Amino acid sequence: MKFFIDTANLAMIEEANALGILDGVTTNPSLMAKEGISGKENILNHYLTICDIVDGDVSAEVIGITYDEMIKEGEELAALHPQIVVKVPIIKDGIKAIKYFSQKGIRTNCTLIFSAGQALLAAKAGATYVSPFLGRLDDVSTDGLNLIEEIRTIYDNFGFETQILAASVRHSMHIINCAKIGADVVTCPLPPILSLLKHPLTDSGLEQFIKDSQKMK
Ligand code: G3P
Repeated sequence: MKFFIDTANLAMIEEANALGILDGVTTNPSLMAKEGISGKENILNHYLTICDIVDGDVSAEVIGITYDEMIKEGEELAALHPQIVVKVPIIKDGIKAIKYFSQKGIRTNCTLIFSAGQALLAAKAGATYVSPFLGRLDDVSTDGLNLIEEIRTIYDNFGFETQILAASVRHSMHIINCAKIGADVVTCPLPPILSLLKHPLTDSGLEQFIKDSQKMK
C-alpha cells in the first residue's frame, strides 16, 4: 500500500519525506488556501516545490468546474511536471474531462467520491486514482470503510486498473483497515502516520533495554 501525505504544507511534506516511506502528495484548494497560496504563478510554483521534495505522484486539483475550464487547467498542470496528477471532481463535466485526459495519457485523480456508483464511473472514464473520502462519510454516520470495500469488490470484479486512494483518512485505524481491505493508497496528514508507531509495550520495552544496556558497559 502506498502512503501519500494530504497537505500543501512544505515543512510537513519534508518531515514525512524524511521518514523514507512517502510515495506521494495530495492537495486540494482548501489545503492550498490554508497555506496562504494564491495567484496562478504562486500556485504553480508551489506544486513545483512539492515535486522537488517528493519523488512520487503529486495531485493538483483543477479549480474550474466546466469541461473547457478543466481541460485548459489540467493540461497546464500536467505540462508543469511529470509527477503531477490532475485532480478532477466527480461531476458530469469532470467525467468527460477524465476520459479526455486518459486518452491523452494525462494521469488523473477523481475526487469527492462518496458512492460506489461514482467510483465505477470514474474507473470507466479511465481515472488513474479514485479518492473516496472516508472520514467525511463517518462524519455523517455512514461507514466510510464500507465504501472502500465496495469499490475494491467492483474494481476486482472487472479488473479496473484505477487505484483506490483512500482520502479523508483521520486516524491510524483508518490506515490499518484500508490496508486490510486492500486500498492501493492512503492519504492523510502526518499525525495518523506517526501514530502507527505508537505502542506502550514498545516504550516500556525500550526503556528497559536502555536501562539494561548500561549494565553491559
Ligand atoms: O484528501 C481529502 C481530504 O483533504 C479531506 O480530508 O479531513 O478534510 O475530510 P478532510
